[in-house]
Amino acid sequence: MVSGGTQEKHAALPEQVVLLEQTPQLKALMSIVRNKETQRGDFIFYSDRVIRLLVEEALNHLPFIDKVISTPTGAKYNGLGFRGKICGVSIMRAGEAMEQGLRDCCRSVRIGKILIQRNEETAMPQLYYSKLPPDIADRFCLLLDPMLATGGSANKAIEVLIDHGVPEERILFVNLICAPEGIEKVLAAYPRLKIVTAEIDAGLDENKYIMPGLGDFGCRYFGTEGV
Ligand code: URA
Repeated sequence: MVSGGTQEKHAALPEQVVLLEQTPQLKALMSIVRNKETQRGDFIFYSDRVIRLLVEEALNHLPFIDKVISTPTGAKYNGLGFRGKICGVSIMRAGEAMEQGLRDCCRSVRIGKILIQRNEETAMPQLYYSKLPPDIADRFCLLLDPMLATGGSANKAIEVLIDHGVPEERILFVNLICAPEGIEKVLAAYPRLKIVTAEIDAGLDENKYIMPGLGDFGCRYFGTEGV
């Protein structure tokens, strides 16, 4: 079953995939972000809005405990409290664009970084750099990367988190657009994590770009060369 999403359109989605509710608002935001005519200022503004929705949704999938509080009226309120600590980890460079959205929701949140690039000789994703919170093994981890394409870098990044003691089921992989190939690859290797995404596209082209996609997210967000 798809949590919080369009079960008609993606009836076969695995339960680990949390698709944002496909509202007209989300569709309108994604139409601006995907449009090749959208200028950088609007690209940043509207992708930040989607990122905020994604982070809010990811936080819904953390554990909560019952919490009774007193209001200024003297009455009790049967509420909930967050259980457990969280952190973010961005996959550089595009994932860094999602850090502010996480900070906007979680004040003072710790954010680690992982840099993975394709090794030219082996064509395999290779870890170049990582800097993670020292107590990451005790935290729920929001792994940030806007585009899940082949799943190669994602799986390497997840491997790094697991090597640092983060249990698979405490990882929430947050992205704007997924290719089905990426979802399949990630969940085949790590069936206990969750993927939180805004939209799932048709697939990859021969250059491993997501189709219809939005081009190169990092280049459009940071204003560098690219598609
Ligand atoms: N990364 C991007 O920025 N775009 C894609 O389509 C695939 C990976």
